[in-house]
Amino acid sequence: MDAKLRIAQLREEIDRHSYNYYVLDKPSIPDAEYDKLFRELQYLEETNPALVTLDSPTRRVGDSALAKREGFESVRHVVPMLSIHTETDTEASGAFSFDARVKNVLETSSEVEYACELKFDGLAINLRYENGFLFSAATRGDGETGEDVTQNILTIKSIPLRLKGCEAAVLEVRGEVYMSRKDFNRYNEKQREKGLPTLVNPRNGAAGSIRQLDPKLAAQRPLSFFSYGLGEVQGWQLPATHSGILDALKTFGLPVCDERAVVKGAQALAEFHKRVAAKRDALPFDIDGVVYKVNSLALQKQLGFISREPRWAVAHKYPAEEQITLLRDIEVQVGRTGKLTPVAKLEPVFVGGVTVTNATLHNLFEIRRKDIRIGDQVIVRRAGDVIPEVIGRVASSLNIPNGNISLGAGRAEALIPEVKHIPRSPYVHNFRMPLKCPVCRSKVVREKGEIDFRCTGGLFCAAQRKQAILHFASRRMMDIEGLGDKLVDQLVEGNLISSLSDLYDREKVNLQSLARLDRMAERSAQNIVAALEQSKRTTLNRFLFALGIRHVGETTAKDLARYFGKLDAIMQASVEQLLQVPDVGPVVAQSIADFFAEAHNREVVQQLLELGVHWDENEGTAHLVLPLTGKTFVLTGTLPTMSRDEAKARLEALGAKVAGSVSKKTDCVVAGAEAGSKLEKAQALNVPVWDEALLQALLANNGEGFTA
Ligand code: IVH
Repeated sequence: MDAKLRIAQLREEIDRHSYNYYVLDKPSIPDAEYDKLFRELQYLEETNPALVTLDSPTRRVGDSALAKREGFESVRHVVPMLSIHTETDTEASGAFSFDARVKNVLETSSEVEYACELKFDGLAINLRYENGFLFSAATRGDGETGEDVTQNILTIKSIPLRLKGCEAAVLEVRGEVYMSRKDFNRYNEKQREKGLPTLVNPRNGAAGSIRQLDPKLAAQRPLSFFSYGLGEVQGWQLPATHSGILDALKTFGLPVCDERAVVKGAQALAEFHKRVAAKRDALPFDIDGVVYKVNSLALQKQLGFISREPRWAVAHKYPAEEQITLLRDIEVQVGRTGKLTPVAKLEPVFVGGVTVTNATLHNLFEIRRKDIRIGDQVIVRRAGDVIPEVIGRVASSLNIPNGNISLGAGRAEALIPEVKHIPRSPYVHNFRMPLKCPVCRSKVVREKGEIDFRCTGGLFCAAQRKQAILHFASRRMMDIEGLGDKLVDQLVEGNLISSLSDLYDREKVNLQSLARLDRMAERSAQNIVAALEQSKRTTLNRFLFALGIRHVGETTAKDLARYFGKLDAIMQASVEQLLQVPDVGPVVAQSIADFFAEAHNREVVQQLLELGVHWDENEGTAHLVLPLTGKTFVLTGTLPTMSRDEAKARLEALGAKVAGSVSKKTDCVVAGAEAGSKLEKAQALNVPVWDEALLQALLANNGEGFTA
């Protein structure tokens, strides 16, 4: 095919998928397919430089040349980028006083029409489109002169490189670059896992990323954009209203936030403020208020400006999501998985609309990195539904009085000392992680190279009890039917069980005690007791899996059962012996040894056995080589007569491994109706594909003679 035609096709396709992914949030192809299209386009453009254009998606890769430069070029804004007056009064009266000022200047008593929007908390950016192509992008700077950040803006995939149906010679679009809460949390989560510096808040994330000299680094911090106004315009007939402008920008393919309204009068402004406040936590991004703009451009002109602020717009704030308060103490909380989290005990402070007394400090390394000590003034952030967190300490030289102070319109994080990454000492001055779990007194460990400290109490630890019981009871483990979330909550909170083994202690869990729980019907209680009795007969591998040993999943449990054959042998095995088991590495081996070294855990196991949990020792097939040992199968689609669980169990009984995805190492894929991508992948990799009939034949032959 002609390169020019193919390039056009690829760009159209890539743009369409990008739009679906980044603007509509509805991915239309797998990432790998997208990358393939992208690389093909890159190749065609490299080999046909004459065909490169300004709207090619390949522009988004980022040119690292900038990184070697001193800084960004300056850009003079043809139309200055102004700021808006802020109504710091977070009550409804803020809306009324703005409306009164507007009516006063316009000398009118009739209701004025307003466009209401969100006040996004990010970084103001001017996008300059010339003849429909994205030409440059600049920060606000001092309003007159900003910095050219085009290369970094190009990495924001929701910003179109070419406008749809807009032939304006010049169209400058103004808006906010921001980082969504999801992207912010995900980025920080990853950094925390690696023990690396985190972002203070999404706004800093956006600003820091845009001002990053290397666009390759900028591209690693995902940003988004919302349009909210215009700069210079040439060759476009403006709509009569501000809302009309935003509607038009949307049709050009620019991101415009749908959370907006056109209303009349002060009362309606106050209602918008209130309605958005109720939704604030649920929004996918931070806002620090709403913005009201007189909708008619003619009236805007009439209202004009006062000291560089438009009289026709105002920002109406919400309570700040960051506040300063005193860190009184640090406590340690144990999570459902045994993870120990240091929690800040704070002088109560009103932040993000609620009073906060506890906030997470994440982990010991974060405390060190942020150089936080008990007794410091710290900055607390509470945004969205996430747990409040301490994001930094305030430099002590600032001499802030004890107790909380309101920051008003100020930015709390501006007070965080610059040298964030060089702690005063390698240890936290007046805090230590405990050596024993504060809940159950079991040993606390930190795996090599890991950030988190964990309680090894497992089954014994009350903090982990609910999770441990649910895990224990689930279908692929002890398979206790009817023992779900709600019942486990009741059993634990009603103090019926304090240890896993209590499940089988009929003096504790019986028809009478169950019936007392939240009006449980007699029939249900009978069913639960019967299910508990039935679950006692199990297999060694299910039992091992059910114990909830960290890093021991279904496959490892089977490997262990197959290798050792007896529970005693596993409980007594040294790390070296455990390492002999196929597929068991140092981390897993250590975790198993730690688990059984903990006396509490051995006790629970002992009690379970004494209360009647058992299995057939002969099912432990130690060292036995079965006909399908070393063969990997993948099951996909619906088989005509067998369930997937059954097929899996029967293949595994013959020694085969049943994997969840197809790779070069797969020996055979068994496909039924509506098999999807796994089947395609098998075909692509030339892996043999079987139907149920072939599988049945193999099973009937006890796995002998497998030659797929
Ligand atoms: S309009 C002349 N609309 O708030 C009016 N600004 O001081 C220009 N901002 O840093 C601004 N959301 O980046 C406008 N919906 C919105 C906004 C908004 C956030 C920011 C803007 C600037 C500050 C205004």
